[in-house]
Amino acid sequence: MAAEDDTGAARAAGVAIAALVCGIVAGTMLTRRDLLAGVGASVALGTVAAGCEDTAATPAAADAGFTPVDAPAAPYDSGPPVDGGPAVAAVDFLHGVASGDPLPDRVMLWTRVTPRMGADGTAVVRWETSTTPDFAAVVTSGTFNTAASRDYTVKVDVGGLSPATTYYYRFSVGETRSPVGRTRTAPAGTVERLRFAVVSCSSLAHGYFHAYRDVAERADLDAVLHLGDYIYEFQNNLYGGVRPYDPPTSAVTLSDYRRRHAWYKRDADLRAAHQQHPFIAIWDDHEFANNAWRDGADNHLPETEGLWSTRKAAAMQAYFEWMPIRELDNGRIWRRFAFGNLIDLSLLDTRIWGRSMQEAEVSNDPSRMLLGADQEQWLLANLASSTARWKVIGQQVQVGAIRPDLNLDGWEGYPVARTRLLRALATMRSSNVAVLTGDIHSSWAMDIAVDPFSAGSYNAATGQGSLGVEFITPAITSPGDHPNADVAPLLAQNPHLRYGNPGLRGFMILDCTHERLQAAWFHLPAGSIEQRERQRTAFSAAWSTLQGANRLSPGGEPAAPRDNPPALAPWETA
Ligand SMILES: [Fe+2]
Repeated sequence: MAAEDDTGAARAAGVAIAALVCGIVAGTMLTRRDLLAGVGASVALGTVAAGCEDTAATPAAADAGFTPVDAPAAPYDSGPPVDGGPAVAAVDFLHGVASGDPLPDRVMLWTRVTPRMGADGTAVVRWETSTTPDFAAVVTSGTFNTAASRDYTVKVDVGGLSPATTYYYRFSVGETRSPVGRTRTAPAGTVERLRFAVVSCSSLAHGYFHAYRDVAERADLDAVLHLGDYIYEFQNNLYGGVRPYDPPTSAVTLSDYRRRHAWYKRDADLRAAHQQHPFIAIWDDHEFANNAWRDGADNHLPETEGLWSTRKAAAMQAYFEWMPIRELDNGRIWRRFAFGNLIDLSLLDTRIWGRSMQEAEVSNDPSRMLLGADQEQWLLANLASSTARWKVIGQQVQVGAIRPDLNLDGWEGYPVARTRLLRALATMRSSNVAVLTGDIHSSWAMDIAVDPFSAGSYNAATGQGSLGVEFITPAITSPGDHPNADVAPLLAQNPHLRYGNPGLRGFMILDCTHERLQAAWFHLPAGSIEQRERQRTAFSAAWSTLQGANRLSPGGEPAAPRDNPPALAPWETA
């Protein structure tokens, strides 16, 4: 049972926490002390056993000589041994396998080995890819040396692959094999259809990842887009009390963040989603700390937790070690993926790269940034130059306003930067822009307009003034509003808002053709995530945007799954 459900006072505190974590604040910022004052009376802090290593770090890198879209030469391949201890002869694969950042000819493969019997030298990990799950014919293979300096994680940027092709992959050390993973390269050239799952916000403390399991079983996806809050940094029972964390304290150091990532990847449902699909992931605040910005976070306490820059670097290093993401320079994760002539996907970092502090009093200061000047220029140039049918922006915080709330953590807290973005959309003829958003633990579809509350700026009946659409994906587990919350008043007050479900967990399926882009929301029944036994999502609603319309229209039924999708990888056992 969640700690927030124990008393009315705690429930109120839970709402405050949800508001804080979602970044929805009515014109003021809550502090961590407000939060703790509300929670402390009713929540006993729990502890769990620790389980992972504490190591120092220097990433290993070698050049594979290929420059994909928007990325430097691929940094991962087998390099020289990086630690000097005796070689690791035997390992276990406890954290599954993963893949990510698919390009037409390459994809990142990931695993983590756990040395047996305390060995601490270099582990030589063999990897193989195949077009069949039985590996009857191996397409490409190699080895990767890992060690404690990179927390025994393995990341290989495998090249020489064919576009729009499903591959199976596995790792081995000696006779011990990892589970088989399944991934898919991006298509190139003329592309008729694409399907993605869009997910965010998996607070492990709030419950079980049934939604990830449903995503795993959808065999016809091209990739999973994860919009951030993949982990949460909180200590036990501060934000959710259904499942404990390791470490039980808030993540602050490199060791803490590594252990938290390791703890997440011990979850079988999350491992299943990684096993079957490539992820394209970006971070939000909780991969670092609550409501983070470039130079701080509202729950970072320098007097006890040290320099923010140190904590930020630790969180970033653990993320790069533990996520199947292709690294760019200096902690940059904003990047672009081309899916042939159908989708040009720009992924943003609205959190860590260039964000100014959330401050209501100075929100109109023109020097305040959400993306930073370089990322913003890059985005606007992408939008202006893209020739793909759909320009999709994957990012964290909401672009559109939902009154009466004022979300100072979202784009509306940075109105000058927001106006620059909207102006860029307005100058694009038939922009076909769709923004995908996470962060607020609820499901919404809205037209994007400069001022949707002014008849001169936006007409809900005709769509005049709409510059594109925004689809907001719900959380996998993180809490939103009450499941029975009535959205009718919000829909009445917000003419640009066409759909909302503030209370249920789940994910979106984005189905894309040249004629339309459809977002379909799939939700778990209320109360599901607190139950360990399997619960299933069901279709709730779909909204589309039609080619050239730049506005929403009812989406009807969810697009049918593809016929004869490639076989799923054999499920991990034990
Ligand atoms: Fe979140």
